[in-house]
Amino acid sequence: MDVYEAVTSRRAVRGFTDKVVPREVLERVLCAAAWSPSGSNLQPWHAYVVIGEPLAELKKRAGKRVAAGDPWDEREYEMYPSALKSPYRERRSAFGEERYGALGISREDWESRQRAASANWDCFGAPAALFCYIDRGLGLPQWSDLGMYLQTVMLLLRAEGLHSCPQMAWSVYRKTVAEIVSPPDGLILFCGMSIGFEDVTVDYIRTGRAPLNETVTFVEG
Ligand SMILES: Cc1cc2nc3c(=O)[nH]c(=O)nc-3n(C[C@H](O)[C@H](O)[C@H](O)COP(=O)(O)O)c2cc1C
Repeated sequence: MDVYEAVTSRRAVRGFTDKVVPREVLERVLCAAAWSPSGSNLQPWHAYVVIGEPLAELKKRAGKRVAAGDPWDEREYEMYPSALKSPYRERRSAFGEERYGALGISREDWESRQRAASANWDCFGAPAALFCYIDRGLGLPQWSDLGMYLQTVMLLLRAEGLHSCPQMAWSVYRKTVAEIVSPPDGLILFCGMSIGFEDVTVDYIRTGRAPLNETVTFVEG
């Protein structure tokens, strides 16, 4: 698979089979992803890979919290600004339409949307998950390094025939994740990532993208 194909075939998959992801495949991917760039080569990511019984236990504990309507853990970072301005506001609502429209859920049906979103904490059925942490003393440029690392991981997973879904949703149950992975106090959970083989029976709508001239400006003579 070439890089273009890896980029265009990667998408946030929200339905996985229970087929096991071999540990050696995950190690191969993570060894290669370690070559991701970072400012001054700080390599500020710290990933925990959770599979097997610990992942089953995490899903069970998170599922109990969802079922009990437990309040989310207090935020360690804001996922989005409270008032999203244009064009981000419109892009977010277009995404909501695409995501929930594929499931036949209307804009007004808040309860069904919440139910669909709760599949996040079952990793959409995936048999493997990665939790990416960053040292709380690091700043915005290092957070962007994490993005490069995570995208590299997701592209390499494509090369292995695997799919993924990055999930900030896990940050609101970060204490439950911490019970399983025991990170040192100095780390903040940025996001989780479900990893596995796609369940091709799950419907989806491919998300769109803004036209190039909305996000790229060529400056030429
Ligand atoms: C940092 C990050 C966090 C995300 N968090 C979630 C999440 O919690 N749950 C989810 O279903 N999708 C999540 N997504 C997936 C995005 O919704 C998805 O990438 C976006 O809509 C574009 O669609 P595509 O990845 O399928 O091309 C996240 C993506 C990123 C990059």
